[in-house]
Amino acid sequence: MTRPNGRPAAGTAATALRAPAPGWATEADVVVVGSGVAGLTAALRCAAAGARVTVVTKARLDDGSTRWAQGGIAAALGEGDTPEQHLDDTLVAGAGLCDEQAVRALVTEGPDAVRRLIATGARFDADDATGEILLTREGGHHRRRIAHAGGDATGAEISRALVEAVRAAGIDTVENALVLDLLKDGSGRAAGVTLHVMGEGRRDGVGAVRADAVVLATGGMGQIFSATTNPAVSTGDGVALALRAGAEVSDLEFVQFHPTVLWLGPDAEGQQPLVSEAVRGEGAHLVDADGVRFMRGQHELAELAPRDIVAKGIMRRMRERGAEHMYLDARHFGAEMWERRFPTILAACRAHGIDPVTEPIPVAPAAHYASGGVRTDLRGRTTVPGLYACGEVACTGVHGANRLASNSLLEGLVFAERIAEDITARAESARAEGRERPAAAAERTEPAPGAAGDAPLLASEARYEIQHIMTHGAGVLRSAGSLARAADRLDRVHDEAAAQLRRDGKTAEPGVETWEATNLHLVARVLVAAALRREETRGCHWREDRPERDDAAWRRHLLVTLRPDGALDVRSTDSEAFPPPTTPRAETESRT
Ligand code: SIN
Repeated sequence: MTRPNGRPAAGTAATALRAPAPGWATEADVVVVGSGVAGLTAALRCAAAGARVTVVTKARLDDGSTRWAQGGIAAALGEGDTPEQHLDDTLVAGAGLCDEQAVRALVTEGPDAVRRLIATGARFDADDATGEILLTREGGHHRRRIAHAGGDATGAEISRALVEAVRAAGIDTVENALVLDLLKDGSGRAAGVTLHVMGEGRRDGVGAVRADAVVLATGGMGQIFSATTNPAVSTGDGVALALRAGAEVSDLEFVQFHPTVLWLGPDAEGQQPLVSEAVRGEGAHLVDADGVRFMRGQHELAELAPRDIVAKGIMRRMRERGAEHMYLDARHFGAEMWERRFPTILAACRAHGIDPVTEPIPVAPAAHYASGGVRTDLRGRTTVPGLYACGEVACTGVHGANRLASNSLLEGLVFAERIAEDITARAESARAEGRERPAAAAERTEPAPGAAGDAPLLASEARYEIQHIMTHGAGVLRSAGSLARAADRLDRVHDEAAAQLRRDGKTAEPGVETWEATNLHLVARVLVAAALRREETRGCHWREDRPERDDAAWRRHLLVTLRPDGALDVRSTDSEAFPPPTTPRAETESRT
């Protein structure tokens, strides 16, 4: 465990979660972990190329974060818009830390990727007369560029279409399955995953899916904070697995806080209702209790400034006024527009006793999106051979220090397709060269029960303690002091469990809640270590004690790996050196 002084704590060896040995196993060419837009797109494209694919997902196929996406998917589809303009807006939002090659791939391949999504069955809102896709605006976009579906139910429609396509393609799926750890072969290459299936039947309890390639698409980690727009399943499992497997993660300090989340009271916990940026895109105003539009004069785009700027503007006004929230006023839309354009948000507000047609909506920022994650190159390859990552779990370099609104669904689509291409090309060249498939290699190693050394599992109640620590120490506004206290308190959570293990030989029982708590703790440690190290304010990392952006010292990424003894290695790199060093530069460039 990393102490603020950099020393590892004793008794923290952690290369695998404590879990029973796998009681069942199945084989595939590709195992995809996660069933949002990224996971299901990767699965469909790999299957279309002839691969045997297994999709593993934590709840039901349509239960991930994608389903909750409201605003839409950004792509240069409108007249007069170009990938270059989309690139410019993305780079500005990313505050100097985007990888331009990755952004270029996103914006140039994005429009066709959306068309392929439509061909897969997704239906976007279109003009009745012309059939043209309707586009809206969100923060940071200088143009109407966001395609939406069902008004404000874009993610639900994309999820519906992809789930239907996966079922129609007959792809093997394992639902209610929490992924545990990566399996590797004797050469250190990914060879599948261990997982725990909550259910009954042929695949029940801890098992293994062996595969030549593993695609992580597990979504986010919003549950490290008390209040988040993320569903309960977003517990950072993919990032934690990748860390234990030795992969590099990057940019974890950049957690995006969505500016307008329905405020449900000071003690509201868990998943909170989102009020999409598209509501501001269609003309809603942010006001304080006196009705003053406080974002005017703070940015040329006022309420439609990039998300970090709006979140900071709200937080500042809340502090000045001693208020717990601000308001979003869209009464001027009228009932008809609310019902047609934002039916989901209207229903959520009304379910909580607020009628946006007649009153302003109380809103406050809440944790929304991890801009960082498992570091990948332009083909979605992580630093562990055979392990890929896409969607929110990944850090492709697209988002930099702050994701541009509605770029995430697009990133999931584009990079999932790139991963499928890479996996397919690799399988084809292996066949052409008559190479044995790695999954058939005899020397595959699997984590033995107890391979976690002396690392304890945390009790399920630790989840709430971690959320409390992170909300108070590493939330939207941070300082060296708050982060150091958070690091200490996180250490204590672990140390108590480790001491009990040493003293009584006891640790929390392996199970979904204790594995999740242990994963949350690991990603929280990494986030705090990176946020403590980054002594500046940039994008969605806001340091009260270092209020300026410092390009001379900090136009660089923080890369973190987990050592087998449980300590964290945190190092920084130049922004320009973003693609992982394992990927030859020429190879990454050839794709763009
Ligand atoms: C929103 O609709 O405001 C969320 C969209 C996003 O997070 O990109």
